[in-house]
Amino acid sequence: MINPQEVGALRVAVYPGTFDPITNGHLDVIKRSCKLFDRIIIGVAGDNYKNTLFSLEERVALVREVTRGLEGVEVKAFQGLLMDFVRREGACAVVRGLRAVSDFEYEFQMSIMNKKLSEEVETVFLMTATEYSFLSSSIIRQVASLGGCIRGLVPPAVERALYKKFNLTEKSKL
Ligand code: COA
Repeated sequence: MINPQEVGALRVAVYPGTFDPITNGHLDVIKRSCKLFDRIIIGVAGDNYKNTLFSLEERVALVREVTRGLEGVEVKAFQGLLMDFVRREGACAVVRGLRAVSDFEYEFQMSIMNKKLSEEVETVFLMTATEYSFLSSSIIRQVASLGGCIRGLVPPAVERALYKKFNLTEKSKL
């Protein structure tokens, strides 16, 4: 386990999620978090939590690919409790994106539970950019599976991975 004292004044935050797959909405939150913290660890939640389209390895690889070049950003998989992962990484905060009022109740519940589990860790909320406030990974999966256009909503590498997953060719896309 990393002792926060040992990493000195470095401000480390974890941005957790399932990222099935990562979208431009997530990327926007990551880029903005970079301005607030010295290091952002993107914590990709393990397979035991949701029935995912992409395997844990595929999700981690996609997040790595699309965040390559972002300074101070690292991508790691985690299993089990988020707060155990946060402690192991020596992070002082968890970053969460808020898309709409409907996110609030769940986020409120989670942040209070996480505070009970780890008193010293804060949850920091960033408002998602308005152009992505309607986005979710499942809506992207659904539209892609039916051959709909998801350009501009996910990075090109994710778009390619989705169409490959659904066996769609350039021609069969709408
Ligand atoms: N832009 C676009 N989409 C976004 C977004 C953004 N900024 N922020 C969230 N979303 C989407 C996600 O892709 C996800 O879509 P989906 O449900 O259609 O797949 C949805 O909004 C919900 O996101 P989120 O609340 O981040 O859920 P998640 O499944 O991605 O992550 C964990 C939840 C993994 C962080 C949480 O369950 C966890 O901490 N698990 C570990 C176990 C644990 O500690 N539990 C106790 C917690 S108190």
